[in-house]
Amino acid sequence: MSDTIHHPLDDPATDPFEVAARAADDIARLTGVDRHDIALTLGSGWGKAADLIGETTATLAATDVTGFSKPALAGHVGSLRSVVTPSGRRVLVIGARTHYYEGHGVRRVVHSVRTAAAAGARTMVLTNGAGGIKPTWKPGTPVLISDHINLTGDSPLEGATFIDLTDLYSTRLRDLARRIDPSLDEGVYCQFRGPQYETPAEVRMAKTIGGHIVGMSTALEAIAARQAGMEVLGFSLITNMAAGIQTTPLSHQEVIEAGQQAEPVISALLARVIGEL
Ligand code: HPA
Repeated sequence: MSDTIHHPLDDPATDPFEVAARAADDIARLTGVDRHDIALTLGSGWGKAADLIGETTATLAATDVTGFSKPALAGHVGSLRSVVTPSGRRVLVIGARTHYYEGHGVRRVVHSVRTAAAAGARTMVLTNGAGGIKPTWKPGTPVLISDHINLTGDSPLEGATFIDLTDLYSTRLRDLARRIDPSLDEGVYCQFRGPQYETPAEVRMAKTIGGHIVGMSTALEAIAARQAGMEVLGFSLITNMAAGIQTTPLSHQEVIEAGQQAEPVISALLARVIGEL
């Protein structure tokens, strides 16, 4: 069955928040957890964090939850997990990201964030694998996202919805993360549409306009999280130096491998941060 034809978010007459509320009801029913406190989206390289945060009490196929799409990529886990931390906080771990480049529209891209908010989460932790512009960031370096530049030309907001994005990537939460790892650097994340990697000229542009990280997710999700009133913490794993910064061609394989190598260390860091939230 194609899920593109009858997808509830594809009908412009549908209220995406109502779909998110239904998804949150599904999650409560299937996990047995009425409210989650924190939501965590796992990008490439961050997958192991879920095991380190606490005890997984339920794992759901994302496709069992209203409005979630099948993951486009093998290697992206299409699951949602409910995890309880040692201090009793409930974390909704989202391993099923829909990327903008899949072309299903921005409503589907931010559905997981809206669902997390509807499930009660007040904190949204967004992680990704991305290209680094700062030459000192070797592949495998985790960095905090301090701000973003949305180069998709799109928005999850519909109509005249004017939302303030000052301090979108919470200074408070970045400070908290740096207390755990003082070596964490930070930078401005530029979201390109993808799925092609950037040209060297696009990376130079990103640098010129104030970017330090290039990727294909996160900015649209962060906007939706702010709209939902959540506090956002963003992490990028630098999986590669951005095109033209490194002279060799980029490959998806390289990105996956850098993620796998860094995974134990950055997952442990992320778990510690989550434990302090
Ligand atoms: N550009 C965009 N997205 C990415 C990159 C990159 O260099 N590496 C991993 N995801």
